[in-house]
Amino acid sequence: VVTPEFTRGLPKAELHLHVEGTLEPELKLKLAKRNHVDIGQATIEDVQKTYNYHDLASFLAVYYPAMNVLQTEEDFYDLAWDYLTKAAANNVRHVELFFDPQAHTSRGIPFEVVLNGLYQATIDARALNVDAHLIMCFLRDFSKESARKTLQEGLKYKDKIIGIGLDSDEHNNPPLKFARQFEDAVAAGLHITTHCDIDQKDSIEHIRQALEIMEVERLDHGTNIVEDPDLVELAAKRQIGLTSCPLSNSFVSPEMKGKEVIDLLNAGVKVSINSDDPAYFKGYISDNYYALAQKFDLSQDQVVQLAKNSFETSWISQRQKQLYL
Ligand code: ADE
Ligand code: ZN
Repeated sequence: VVTPEFTRGLPKAELHLHVEGTLEPELKLKLAKRNHVDIGQATIEDVQKTYNYHDLASFLAVYYPAMNVLQTEEDFYDLAWDYLTKAAANNVRHVELFFDPQAHTSRGIPFEVVLNGLYQATIDARALNVDAHLIMCFLRDFSKESARKTLQEGLKYKDKIIGIGLDSDEHNNPPLKFARQFEDAVAAGLHITTHCDIDQKDSIEHIRQALEIMEVERLDHGTNIVEDPDLVELAAKRQIGLTSCPLSNSFVSPEMKGKEVIDLLNAGVKVSINSDDPAYFKGYISDNYYALAQKFDLSQDQVVQLAKNSFETSWISQRQKQLYL
């Protein structure tokens, strides 16, 4: 049987983790004090009382304002470091962290402050035996022009970024809106992935654009792909990684897309388990594995396959992968 100890001890890679989504109430209050930011919340209960969400838009409405406490390089370092110590405790050996520069530059924080703080934490994580890399995301509800400028900034620090992602509000913001920026990122040697959140208005069309036109290497969430057998076949053939996040899903879909994950495993699609925004969705990565295993009675072999998929669809070198697999 699959126990919490088993899911915790299993060596794993985390591929869908928003570093801003690891901001725990404790750290939020500490940073608010340190930076003299009035957030109108004094206790952990006050912070948790704001955690009311039932869909992507209502989640984002809580998520972005919370970031106001992040001001200095040290703040970004502390945010990433706190997560990385938890990753180590969850036996995460490799992690690719998403960060949203525009969520910070748009409120006057310089790009370098964000990147330098996060990057230093990924370097120091080597002492924790965690191999950590950064994925720079564009906010899809911002303009193409804003993404273009953000890419231009990011490419100045290309060696500190492993790839490009796309997140935030998907409604009427298809992947193709950023086709040019993704093409430029690939030309610069970066990997690419995009969110295709669950149960969106145009889920299948967005997945189709991402796979057939933009040729992304992974889909973040993406489990609605099961509605289109041709796309499932394509994802299996191309070894596309699908980064599912059960506890995050459980806020918007009662069955946390568990049946879809199992169907994808059976179809030979490289689906993996991840935590998305663990400070907001009640659990880190091992909790996500355990919640899914528990609810869907997964075998140890199935859980091991999910962890194996996480390494296989990660962006570490082929040589490094052999160390884990
Ligand atoms: N930003 C943080 N988490 C996200 C998610 N699950 N989907 C879209 N944007 C996000
Ligand atoms: Zn996400």
